[in-house]
Amino acid sequence: MVEIEIAAHAGACYGVERALAMARAAARDAEGPVRTLGPLIHNPLVVDELAREGVSVAQSVSTADAGTLILRTHGVVPRLVEQARAQGLHVLDATCPYVKRAHAAARRLVRQGFQLLVVGEAGHPEVEGILGAAGDGARVVSRLADLDGIDLAERIGVVVQTTQTIERLQQITDALLARAREVCVVNTICAATTDRQRAARALAEREDVMIVIGGKNSGNTRRLAEISAASCPKTHHIEDVAELESSWFYGARLVGITAGASTPAAHIDRAVAVIGGMCDSA
Ligand code: F3S
Repeated sequence: MVEIEIAAHAGACYGVERALAMARAAARDAEGPVRTLGPLIHNPLVVDELAREGVSVAQSVSTADAGTLILRTHGVVPRLVEQARAQGLHVLDATCPYVKRAHAAARRLVRQGFQLLVVGEAGHPEVEGILGAAGDGARVVSRLADLDGIDLAERIGVVVQTTQTIERLQQITDALLARAREVCVVNTICAATTDRQRAARALAEREDVMIVIGGKNSGNTRRLAEISAASCPKTHHIEDVAELESSWFYGARLVGITAGASTPAAHIDRAVAVIGGMCDSA
């Protein structure tokens, strides 16, 4: 008899659940077309589901000519919001409140006269949004070596992309403390990512097979698959239950499931049912 266990933290985070609920409500109630600025989340199945419910994807503000434009969880630069409003679009802001907290902290530090550094991935939309909120002069630091190229002021303010690790923030903060007179760090990391990673590691250590559910284009899901594979070689990353193969479960006693922060709970439930069926008939 196979036992199926789900990681203690798995699947859609608060910000994604909120954005999905906002998009679905807009599809139901708003007048005119409803579009998201880029795919709402990194999960093609969910993006297809939304399309069937009337929420399509605009690749840029200028291609959305009327109706409602929904901003994604990781936020955008303020200039795009202004452009959308100037085009007469109704803007629905689904930026995650935790990302908004990073924007607010960035603005506050700049107002207080700190030179702002954003610890995060250069070019990532969330980081671009934080830079936009902070205004001119803010710089991105992805790794320690980036500090060498920056003319550091005496007072440094630091905020961090929500999905970065505490270890990376700590490493960069330590280096700054050695070089600046005053360093003010606002830890804007969101616990959802680290909670999912920790839970995946703990589960993978005791399972015979691990199934990781989420978009193949989702960075956080791919990371969960890597973490899981490090402890459980029989790890499979699937986007859709149709990819499951009964041969994966031959001889397995414990099957673990985890899912990325863009995977709705219904997808996890579906996988549990399909895996259960496969194991029962094996
Ligand atoms: Fe928000 Fe954290 Fe999810 S920042 S979108 S709750 S990963």
